[in-house]
Order: sequence, then C-alpha cells, then structure tokens
Amino acid sequence: MQNCLAVAHRCRARSVSKPIHRALTKVSSYGRILTPHPPLEAIPIHSRSTPAYRPAGQIINPSAFSARRFATRATAPAPETPASAESDPSQPTCTAISPTLEQPNVYSFFERGTSTWQYVIADPNTLKAVIVDPVLDYDPASGAISTTTADGLLAFVKSNNLDIVMLLETHAHADHITAAQYLSKKLGGIPVAIGKRIVTVQERIAKIYGVPREWWDGAFHKYWEDGERFKIGEIECSVIHLPGHTPDHVGYMCGENLFVGDTIFYPDVGSARADFPGGSPTDLYNSIQRVLAMSPNTRVYAGHDYPPPTAVSTNEADRCYSLVSEQCEKNVHLKARLQEITASTSLQTQAGPSDDLAEKLMTAFIEWRAKRDRALGAPRLIHPALQINICAGKLPRADSEGRRLLKIPLRIPEGL
Ligand SMILES: [Fe+2]
Repeated sequence: MQNCLAVAHRCRARSVSKPIHRALTKVSSYGRILTPHPPLEAIPIHSRSTPAYRPAGQIINPSAFSARRFATRATAPAPETPASAESDPSQPTCTAISPTLEQPNVYSFFERGTSTWQYVIADPNTLKAVIVDPVLDYDPASGAISTTTADGLLAFVKSNNLDIVMLLETHAHADHITAAQYLSKKLGGIPVAIGKRIVTVQERIAKIYGVPREWWDGAFHKYWEDGERFKIGEIECSVIHLPGHTPDHVGYMCGENLFVGDTIFYPDVGSARADFPGGSPTDLYNSIQRVLAMSPNTRVYAGHDYPPPTAVSTNEADRCYSLVSEQCEKNVHLKARLQEITASTSLQTQAGPSDDLAEKLMTAFIEWRAKRDRALGAPRLIHPALQINICAGKLPRADSEGRRLLKIPLRIPEGL
C-alpha cells in the first residue's frame, strides 16, 4: 500500500474543482440532525506492530520500549500507571516517556463518557507542560456539571510537579464541553488558546443560539495563526491549521508528535465528519493530505477513539496513537476509496486511459464523506457543547433570577 502514500503526497497540491466544492458545501448545511463521530467501517486493519520512538539520528533499541506504552528515562517524570487505573481520571491511560530531552513526554487520558482523548504534553527537562482538549463532565438529563475528569488532570499535574503554562483547544467541540476555563482558573489564570478562525465559528454558533456577543467575544486568550510557533519549556511546537471538521480546527506539532484533533482518528476508525457549521469535506481532505505528507515516524494523537467491533484491540492503552506511515497505509476511509477506484478503473481500462489516480481519490473521498455525513445524526451534547465552547468553556451567565440556562433549537414539522 505504499501506493497510497504516493497518492496522498501527489494529492496534496491539488485543489478540488469549484463545481464539486459548491455541490459539497451546499449539502453540508447545518439544518440536519447530527450524531457524534460514529462507529465507522469495520475493516480489521488494526496493526499490532510496535514502533519504537526514534528521534532523528539516534539508534534506539526497540526492546527498550514496550508496545505503545512506557519507556522510562532517569531524568523524566515516570508516574506509575496501574492496569486498573482506567476508572481513575488522575491516571493516564497511556504514557510515552521521551528517550531524549528534545522530545516531550506525552500523557494520554481517555474520557469514556465522550470517547475523548485528553493530553498532557510535558517538557522532561523543565517540567513545563500544556493540556490539550480537557473535558468538563456534563449530565444532559439533569443539567449537572461536574469536574471529576478535570480534577483528575489537576491531581496528575500536581503529583508529577508539572507546571501547566497553557491550555490548548484543537477546535470548538460539538461532542463534549471543554474544561479549559475551569482549569485556567484553578491554575492561576493561564491562557486558553485556539485557532484564530474560531471567530467565524463563534459568530455562526452565537447566531443559532442567540449567545450574547459579550459572552464569546475575546473569550480566549490566544488565537493561533497557521504556522505559529511556541515552546513548552524547551520543546519546539508549531500550530498547523487543519480545517474541514470545523474551519477553526488546528493541530499542534510538539517535537515528533502531532495532536491532530478531529481530522483523522486511529487508522481503523478513519476520518472525522465535515458537516458542522463551516465544515468542508474538501478542506478535510486537504488537511488529511497535509498530515500524511509529514515524516512517516510522526506520532498522530487523535481527539477521539471509536474502535470498530472488529478492532484487534479495543483497549484504549493500545490505541493511544498511530504513526503517519500507518495512516498512509491503513486509514480505512482512504484505503476503501482507493480500492473502489482501483476496482472500477480496471473495469474501464478498455475504454481508454483513466484520469489521474490522485484526482480520483480526492473526488471519491469528498463525495463519499459528504454522503456519509448526510446520514449521521446529531452529537448527544451538541447544544450545550457549542454554546459553552464558543465561550472558551465559560458557563452561561445567570439571568435576573439567578438561573443559568442553555437553549435547544426545535425542528418542527410543517403544520404543527
Ligand atoms: Fe470535534
């Protein structure tokens, strides 16, 4: 399947035709019922290979690294992660300790209620760290909000003497409420950062729900440009604009680790939906190609995981990240489109030369993604999540009677 990688690279510079783009964006309206990133095609492609973490120029003994889990180094914080820790939000689901001071330690926390990956990225030298996409617990039936999950992150940070310097959001989530605001307050007012195109998302969502401008305008502390650089201690990081799932969506590259949010997931899950307000299958495809063009050894950390029933392992600790090389070879959504094209092209060879494979893959993916998204339902927490997340996690202000309320737009059939 090296061919898939080649196609991916060739596709990167191409753009979709305007008619296709118009057609696809037209069907990506916001009026439909949507579902959370759903369980996707169940093609058993899960890899149990054990890639070692190999910084450029260094030879690493693979036996020093156990699966996708733990490599310890004397100077690194090396918290214990007992097998029974899955219900303890203060214990990482998975830990990757860097063998060098040039790469961060990555602690991955899986929040089961919304199938969300939260990350703590730490500089092993200075112990400066950031938190990516933290979750605030919410019960939609009662309206109760709690901080059990976020408090788990705080406990972990404290017990490992980490100094959290920033809270990073990959995008305005529709499937969970962010705990960034809560954590910012608990950590002394540290900044909450997001891509600068959040402003267009805020305007759209605020209009739908009637969120007052003063609640969301300037709610974040930092608005990233594409390519902007920053440091976690001494670890070099950069921001990569990855639109498609949402227009504001960014990824964070820290050393050789890409926190890709909802662009692609584990290879057997595939890609994110692209029909939220301002979403675009075309943009998503181009963002995926931007990821696939990165170094094959880049670790891809996703925003969610929804293991298909046929996955070799549904244990989150086995699915903490994938490599770009694995995505190129096995991403189920790209692979399926490529197989369809290959099958149909072989049938048509008598009719004359086929179009370029890369162009066909792009068109097939975009059309398939748009069609699939039309059949999906709404995320369970979409209404509270969007209203709160465009405000950087600030909860609705109390009204004159002290009530804090959210709105649910109704979809009423004609004549009712
Ligand atoms: Fe999302």
